[in-house]
Amino acid sequence: MEKYNIAIDGPAGAGKSTIARRVADALGFVYVDTGAMYRAVTWRVLQQGISPADTERVADISRNLRLELRPGPEGQQVYANGEDITGLIRTPEVNANVSDVAKIREVREQLVRKQKEMTAAKGVVMDGRDIGTHVIPDAEVKVFLTASPRVRAERRFHEMKDSQPGLTIEQLEQDIARRDKIDEEREVSPLMRAPDAVLIDSTNLTIPEVVERILELCRAKAPGGT
Ligand code: CDP
Ligand code: CDP
Repeated sequence: MEKYNIAIDGPAGAGKSTIARRVADALGFVYVDTGAMYRAVTWRVLQQGISPADTERVADISRNLRLELRPGPEGQQVYANGEDITGLIRTPEVNANVSDVAKIREVREQLVRKQKEMTAAKGVVMDGRDIGTHVIPDAEVKVFLTASPRVRAERRFHEMKDSQPGLTIEQLEQDIARRDKIDEEREVSPLMRAPDAVLIDSTNLTIPEVVERILELCRAKAPGGT
């Protein structure tokens, strides 16, 4: 089977990881969640009591962290220096700091280098913020996935309400808006739609509908590969 790469970018809560994983399963491709890598560095920075504003120390942490992504039964698992930290990288503390860590040039250079290595053999569905613009600019299929801020916050709320009682949709909407702003305004590879990425607004689309649209793009752009 012909292999190619698929880049999926977009703002927080747009459905990137859910959709990317299903597309990868449908095609027998490898799914890579790059947000988990920025989250892993952030987790380590906070664990060491370092401020994200201390860019030199954060860059040091990122340089010395041995990061591994492994496919697991419930999706991608993240290992840092051999320790499984998959369950530790989606906390409110990491959410609040990850965009400040991700705007540091050295951190991005280190992680983007690793991400490029992962896509060299093709057959990868990768999601993030700069995949179509910087990590795999020659990806055969590029999607910019979005949804209205309110719907994105509502989706996140349904996901988190049982594990975090007291959480409100308004709080999540603010958290998402703050992160989107930092991601869109940063100097190094900001969140933006690549000129050749297909825009999919999933505000009124179900998960299977979005997956089908992307598989259609795959059939059109890489005939014989699906
Ligand atoms: O799942 P969610 O959309 O909330 O976030 P994520 O994909 O796990 O990404 C967390 C954060 O990492 C984003 O808000 C960005 O600051 C950063 N990120 C990035 O800068 N570049 C990427 N390729 C992926 C994530
Ligand atoms: O990775 P990203 O932050 O872009 O989003 P996600 O974590 O994949 O999706 C956020 C939530 O939205 C998940 O609970 C998905 O099941 C849900 N979702 C949805 O309800 N409808 C869609 N069309 C896409 C995602």
